[in-house]
Amino acid sequence: MRGLGVTGGAGMMYGAMSAIGLAPAAAREPFRAPELGDLVGQGPGHHTVTVLGAGPAGLCTAYELGKAGYDVTVLEARFRPGGRVWSIRGGTEETDLDGEIQRSTFSEGHFLNMGATRIPQGHVTLDYCRELGVAIQAFPNQNANAFVNYTSDTPLTKTSITYRAAKADTYGYISELLQKAASRGALDDVLSADDKQALAEFLKDFGDLSSDGRYLGSSRRGYTSQPGAGTDEGTRLPPPPALSDVVRSGIGRNFGFELENDQAMMMYTVVGGMDQIYHAFHRTLGDRVRFGAVVTAMRNVPEGVTVEYTHGGVGRSITSDYVVCTLPPHLVARLRTNLAPNVLAALRAPKAVASGKLGIEYSKRWWETEQRIYGGVSNTDKDIREIMFPFDHFHGDRGIVVAYYTTGKRQEIFEPLRHRQRLAKALAEGAEIHGDSYTKNVGPSFSAAWRRIRYSESAWASWSAKSPEYNLLLQPADKIYFAGDYLSHALSWQHGALTSARAAVAAVHARAAGPR
Ligand code: FAD
Ligand code: ALA
Repeated sequence: MRGLGVTGGAGMMYGAMSAIGLAPAAAREPFRAPELGDLVGQGPGHHTVTVLGAGPAGLCTAYELGKAGYDVTVLEARFRPGGRVWSIRGGTEETDLDGEIQRSTFSEGHFLNMGATRIPQGHVTLDYCRELGVAIQAFPNQNANAFVNYTSDTPLTKTSITYRAAKADTYGYISELLQKAASRGALDDVLSADDKQALAEFLKDFGDLSSDGRYLGSSRRGYTSQPGAGTDEGTRLPPPPALSDVVRSGIGRNFGFELENDQAMMMYTVVGGMDQIYHAFHRTLGDRVRFGAVVTAMRNVPEGVTVEYTHGGVGRSITSDYVVCTLPPHLVARLRTNLAPNVLAALRAPKAVASGKLGIEYSKRWWETEQRIYGGVSNTDKDIREIMFPFDHFHGDRGIVVAYYTTGKRQEIFEPLRHRQRLAKALAEGAEIHGDSYTKNVGPSFSAAWRRIRYSESAWASWSAKSPEYNLLLQPADKIYFAGDYLSHALSWQHGALTSARAAVAAVHARAAGPR
């Protein structure tokens, strides 16, 4: 590689690294947005497209087609852009499908991202932030000072342990075990003498082992009093629990999360709330977006596609050359349509996943002042599953903590509860992890169960991108194109919705403008 770099320059070296998987590869076919010149001779506004939904997929579709002068209309049932990218602020009001009304009284400048909240570095979401001038900031997805707390048949049961200590002990003992196995010859069939030497050096560093290969505890576990000036060596945490207790306690069960392709640091978020991306999209589109427009029917007709919707209680219809439909698939299947039975069956195939969050505004940032936690996530096997600490307003006088973020079975426990009951459960379980401060200085709160939220009725779709139904919906139903994160390999990510929108844009454009 060094040779290639010297003779061929950095570009050639990078290309070769990319080919053998050492550097991130460029996207296979970079997206080229439609341009005004592509429709030369056809006049701007010649082609009409109705986009259903002003979530990420819908707004991205309208924005990209708008670049080439398509005459685009976006119909959105809600009175805000963003869909499942929903930032709750003071004044937000929602009536769920069970009729419970919540009105947020969060303080000025504070918000809760009820849906999307984090962005991995590789996602096109960041490219749109750059293009639209939306400010981003780091999102602490992992924090060594946050806690794990799990139930086990060991002395560690239901004990809050910092990630820092949990990792030091788990990595330490695993390293000791592996070192022991290698030095006793148990791995001689796969390791040469040189391999064993290299492995021993790695394990000594990885586990902070003693010179004779044992884990005896480590300053990596953390300090109750930090080392300071002069003779102050600080006070280290007590020695680690026994190897067997550490292994059986399962404190390492979530360590893999931070290694996931889309959850590894660095992660980013949008300053002032994730919905700012979609307000920025909306600003570029202006009154081409009709809020409060509830789509009720969609039919392929000889002239294109006719969509019926209600707006302010009045029935309306619009006919355009094409439709890009970005509504959640199970809701499309409920519209009055002339879609073929196999298309309707495909739209019903994705399962609606249950997920929800509850945010509490505290009038004291006790997690910073008492527990030295600045952002990040505590994990537990209690029903609340995880607690997310604020990534903004550090050292301020208040902040919103995500007191639970649950998915699947755990969310099914919270879903039927009223907000007050959800809050009581969140406070009780959170206090078992972070102590009494959790139940003090509690201000306004807000929760949602996504399967009970109108115009979503699902957090995201669960299905296989290998299924025939998935592949069917990648094709247009005559002049109707489908888009949304459910038609991507990035389910439950804005990136999935945005890349799916780009695919729909490219397909419509290829049909309308011909080959480029
Ligand atoms: P949607 O956002 O659902 O948009 C569909 C739009 O259609 C909505 O605006 C809806 O109001 C509208 N609509 C529905 N019915 C009608 C109708 N009849 N008439 C007119 N309009 C209608 N992504 C990330 O990148 N990072 C994260 O950290 C992240 N976390 C998430 C956490 C949760 C709990 C949830 C629920 C989602 C999360 N996501 C995250 C995923 C992200 O929010 C979605 O991938 C994205 O919103 C999908 O966009 P979409 O346009 O496909 O669908
Ligand atoms: N993509 C969603 C998240 O990161 C599920 O929380």
